[in-house]
Amino acid sequence: MSTPRRIAVIASGSGSNMAAIAAACERGDIPATLSLVISNVPHARVLARAAEWQLPNRCINHRDYESRGAFEEAMLQVLQKNAIDLVVLAGFMRILTDRFIREYYGSLLNIHPSLLPKYPGLNTHQRALDAGDEEAGATVHFVIPELDAGPTIVQARVPVLSGDDASSLAARVQAQEHQIYPLAVRWCVEKKVELRKGKVWKDPSLTSNGTNA
Ligand code: GRF
Repeated sequence: MSTPRRIAVIASGSGSNMAAIAAACERGDIPATLSLVISNVPHARVLARAAEWQLPNRCINHRDYESRGAFEEAMLQVLQKNAIDLVVLAGFMRILTDRFIREYYGSLLNIHPSLLPKYPGLNTHQRALDAGDEEAGATVHFVIPELDAGPTIVQARVPVLSGDDASSLAARVQAQEHQIYPLAVRWCVEKKVELRKGKVWKDPSLTSNGTNA
């Protein structure tokens, strides 16, 4: 597989991770172009943010399609037309079918706001608080058909502080997301991280903070 050069972000919400990746591309930290931002939600803040960054963006509203498959075909067509070779899910609130995942297998990333395998699914911060966890965090992983179960590329950990509620904990985790997601994207673009035989392979020169040893 050749080196990814054209990245797409797919998101449903605010787009703070998209903006962190856009900034990293602009700084040259990620040697690739953020070529397309897609949201399935009309008027999602991520689309306004993409416009502010002057990034090509479009809404593909899942409600306009009669099935999940038809919605995904529309997304695949747009991704392929734009020659996208790395797809980055960032707060995309739809479950993808095997067909879509197979198409970008190994070039499809997601960020999840928990220390997977803990708390797949929703309400991760409240669940961490309810369990009395002392730490929380976020995970960047390759996407496989099983939800939130793909091999981990990188995690960030934060302490749970007394007095935390779900939103204060989410804010602390998100600040870390904005560090690790651009880093993971960079590793993938530089081919320092790959999905090989269902497992994450990391270039031996890579240290956990992304510098070369
Ligand atoms: C992040 O917390 C991410 O972990 C989760 O959805 C949220 C997206 O936030 N998957 P944003 O839209 O990037 O601000």
